[in-house]
Amino acid sequence: MSDFVTIILAAGKGTRMKSALPKVLHKAGGKAMVQQVLDAAKAAGARRQVVVTGFGGDAVREALGDQAEFVTQEEQLGTGHAVKMTAPLLKDEKGTVMVLCGDTPLLTSTLLKKLFDEHVAAKAKATVLTAVMPDATGYGRIIRKADGSVEKIVEHKDATEAERKVREVNSGIYCFDTQALFASLEQVTNDNAQGEYYLPDVLEILQKQGEKIWAVAADDYEETLGVNSRAQLANAERILRQRKNEELMAEGVSIIDPATTFVDSDVTVGRDTILYPMTYLESGTTIGENCEIGPSVRIQNTKIGSGVSGQFLYAHDAVVDDNVKLGQFVHLRPGTHICEGVKIDNFIEVKNSTIGKGSKLPHLSYIGDCDMGENVNMGCGTITVNYDGRKKFRTKIGNNAFVGCNSNLVAPVTVEDNAYIAAGSTITQTVPKDALAVARARQKNITGWLDKRKQ
Ligand code: UD1
Ligand code: MG
Repeated sequence: MSDFVTIILAAGKGTRMKSALPKVLHKAGGKAMVQQVLDAAKAAGARRQVVVTGFGGDAVREALGDQAEFVTQEEQLGTGHAVKMTAPLLKDEKGTVMVLCGDTPLLTSTLLKKLFDEHVAAKAKATVLTAVMPDATGYGRIIRKADGSVEKIVEHKDATEAERKVREVNSGIYCFDTQALFASLEQVTNDNAQGEYYLPDVLEILQKQGEKIWAVAADDYEETLGVNSRAQLANAERILRQRKNEELMAEGVSIIDPATTFVDSDVTVGRDTILYPMTYLESGTTIGENCEIGPSVRIQNTKIGSGVSGQFLYAHDAVVDDNVKLGQFVHLRPGTHICEGVKIDNFIEVKNSTIGKGSKLPHLSYIGDCDMGENVNMGCGTITVNYDGRKKFRTKIGNNAFVGCNSNLVAPVTVEDNAYIAAGSTITQTVPKDALAVARARQKNITGWLDKRKQ
């Protein structure tokens, strides 16, 4: 069983992002990058996580809440210094500590688990996760001895020409024996090209003490990629997206065009659902089986049942039950619950309302703050008048009601079961059960009117 604590380094400003937001809070795959790292570590078995914050620390704390403990690094004096800041919290921990960076959103729990397992199996004091990069510029290089064991890590700026030719790099992710880590950090100096306290120096210190240090190579270097710029963020996003689409397709979801299908990491989609192009399924969304979603759909934090079809639609913070048809140009706003078998078609907006089973809203309606029963028919152009300029009021519509075209239901108002409303009515009072309400001026024809005007 995995059992380790983590230190997640997230104090850096991320200057190259050119952002007011701390770098690690920029999202990839619909989640803050540091959240992706926390989630991967948690899934790999982390039981306690400590985040080192600095620039924008308050925002990072607020975003992560009680998922982690926090320490502040006032001045960014280097990765070794950053880790040292956690000593007050972790110095009594026995066993393994995994050090990660908050800007590597592509890590998987499988890779972290492998790093931990191999560190434990090797009985090493320190294990570094390495990757072979097509272009290693800027990274710390892994320098091995003749027997293949790791000797040290050299930062790019401190490396010799020969060392710079090495393409195996330090991913910035490690496992350490907690006690050995804090003891060695005392010996790390800032006597180097950047004048920083380098965490990787701990490996050389331990190695010279005759301790075992180990390296685990990632099969896929992409998993270890850090994000330093908006271009790298877009690249991470692209990789996460591709990964998610492949995962969904492997589980039985059809994606017509993966290049134009954007599904956040935490979204689930049931089998035999088809995703059409230009579909965005964002964080907090679940889609059932046998649905047809898209083209041109944006769904955020919405729970959708099975057998639902929806195209050209925007839904957020809503719930849609099974076998619903969401036609084209539909906007479902927060607090909306669409019950089973409902049909909502052309140019309809629904907000903070329940639409009962089997009801139909075929064309051009605004339904806000409404409790609608089952099998209601809302004619074309029907509107709930929910706002008097100061307050919002609710409309209640009973089962099997039939609301004629172009009617206004001025809330607060109730339409009881089986009631009918004549087209063009403006309803301001209760329509009783089984009644027909006609609330419009009677038609008057003035015969011969044109002739009279000519005279
Ligand atoms: C570091 C490693 C390098 C490795 C690379 C992988 C060191 C000295 N070098 O270099 O070997 O190849 O990562 O990406 O560790 N941070 C703090 N406080 C600080 C300094 C940094 O919290 O004082 C955080 C940063 O926010 C970042 C992480 O530590 O999340 C790494 O720091 P960064 O400056 O990006 O190190 P690199 O130069 O990339
Ligand atoms: Mg970096």
